[in-house]
Amino acid sequence: MAIQQTFSIIKPDATSRNLTGAINKVIEERGLRIVAQRRILMTRAQAERFYSIHSDRPFFGVLVDFMTSAPVVVQILEGENAVDVYRTVMGATNPEEAAEGTIRKLFAESIGKNSVHGSDSEENAALEIGQFFSESEIVG
Ligand code: CMP
Repeated sequence: MAIQQTFSIIKPDATSRNLTGAINKVIEERGLRIVAQRRILMTRAQAERFYSIHSDRPFFGVLVDFMTSAPVVVQILEGENAVDVYRTVMGATNPEEAAEGTIRKLFAESIGKNSVHGSDSEENAALEIGQFFSESEIVG
């Protein structure tokens, strides 16, 4: 399996509870390398574009409100099979269904305030990385 990159967001519920370091520790312990990272306050335009696939969902407005409510940490994670590995490390979207030891089981508050986002495919990872990072910011 080749080395892959995936895109990650540490969400407002986690940054506001001072959990960035604790989540990064889990990420690194599971063998993923944080090759780029920046703390930002997302604009509504950024959040609406990022989650445009969910624009018809009833929770879209709540999701955009939440993602712009406090700083997030955007990241690029690298490793073997990184997209699937990070989805396993995050756990199920709903923390009530997340497996023991996953980031969402450990830290998430609800299906909305679920602490982290990770890309669902290699194709989407490239698109999502491109929304927040330029080539010059990715130094390995
Ligand atoms: P994420 O992986 O960032 O991708 C879409 C997000 O929508 C998802 O995580 C959840 O945080 C959020 N989401 C999904 N279902 C709901 C819901 N019913 N209410 C609020 N947010 C939701």
